[in-house]
Amino acid sequence: MISPVRIWDLPTRFFHWLLVTHFTLAWLTAGDSRYLDFHVFFGYGFLGLLLFRLLWGVIGSHYARFSSFCYSYSAVIKFLTTPSSFSNLGHTPAGSWAIWALLFLGFLVSGSGLLTLGALNQLGPLEGYFNFAQGDLFHWVHTSTAWSLLGLVILHLSGVILASRIHRESLIWAMITGFKNTTCLNEQSVPQHPLIAYSLLLFILISAGGYFQGRLFQNPNYQPFPSPPLPQLSLWQSECEDCHLAYHPTLLPQRSWQQIFAEQHNHFEEDLSLDEDTLQQLKQFAFQYPAESNLTKTAWKTHSTLSSSQIPLRITQTPYWREQHQTIAWKQDSNFPAKLDCVACHQDAESGRFTAAAMRLPTATDFPPSR
Ligand code: HEC
Ligand code: HEC
Repeated sequence: MISPVRIWDLPTRFFHWLLVTHFTLAWLTAGDSRYLDFHVFFGYGFLGLLLFRLLWGVIGSHYARFSSFCYSYSAVIKFLTTPSSFSNLGHTPAGSWAIWALLFLGFLVSGSGLLTLGALNQLGPLEGYFNFAQGDLFHWVHTSTAWSLLGLVILHLSGVILASRIHRESLIWAMITGFKNTTCLNEQSVPQHPLIAYSLLLFILISAGGYFQGRLFQNPNYQPFPSPPLPQLSLWQSECEDCHLAYHPTLLPQRSWQQIFAEQHNHFEEDLSLDEDTLQQLKQFAFQYPAESNLTKTAWKTHSTLSSSQIPLRITQTPYWREQHQTIAWKQDSNFPAKLDCVACHQDAESGRFTAAAMRLPTATDFPPSR
């Protein structure tokens, strides 16, 4: 006689589908810095869910416990060569190895994400502990482990589909209802633990509410991750603002500023006519906070992607600027912002920060951001 038994308790199923959701949403918001705060939220959620699973693997019901799916390498080989020899309701040996690998990679991805956030964006709990160069490395680890995790997810899914076909029973459906069919009458259903499952869900919803309340209830200019202001000089503002945005000195390396001030009488065909005293003050400010000062990610990226022989006189000619704006189809259209109209797309352009959170694209569909 075939009868259904519940093998996946509610917390395990909630964990599973919440992890799927967080993973998917983190992928969808990755790479586009305008959605960095969403990406970070799903990353935190992903890490939190993994930690919950570690706990549940110890105190959860029978099939959720790690002890119920600890298989040796030889057990996996035996299972793969003669699958029919295996008759346990929980994870198969091959499936369990996929789950161990998913957990391990999951921790690597979320851990390296936290490190990247702390180093490259100087945000989050690890803010200030690492420099931008290390941030670049963490970012590389983060993206490569994320791709590996995606590969593993595809492998896991193929395994699930294959096993479902062989056993003529949908494993996906079992992860939704919790039930699997068995002919063994001794099998007992595991307890549901609904209170723990709903508390997990509630915790995530409350955290989301707290995290996104700024976006939900505050003004349209709301910016997540506010950063401290950069050093400013009022003379710099007043001298440059007459003709264009007073580009912050962190946007170009020191040697560029040196040249720009040396050529002040032929500044893009304009004469700046700065007197000696003003010139010295402006130079001092520019030499104190050039790109090499690494005050922002933009500053670090701008000078570290330049070769030492290059002396760009335009921000818009630096490799970093060009790379960031390469997907924009610049149009000679009065409605379309000019390249030098930084404020049109970056709300914080005057501050010199150019944070992801302050991006406001006038017509978002016209220029997809670079990936
Ligand atoms: C009299 C007008 C005038 C003043 C004052 C002026 N600039 Fe300019 N600046 C220009 C013009 C014109 C351009 C070229 C704009 C273009 O290509 O459309 C330019 C371009 C630049 C660029 C290159 C922008 C790019 O990436 O293409 C930088 C950097 C720059 N100015 C810095 C400064 C600084 C710093 C000050 C203040 C000390 C300043 N400028 C003051 C007229 C001025
Ligand atoms: C037409 C809109 C537009 C204009 C004008 C514009 N940008 Fe951008 N900027 C973008 C987009 C889109 C990105 C890519 C964001 C992404 O990849 O997530 C970007 C990215 C950047 C970044 C990288 C931010 C980061 O997260 O590292 C910097 C720095 C930057 N822009 C500086 C400038 C400066 C300086 C100017 C003016 C000289 C300017 N931008 C003008 C749209 C614009």
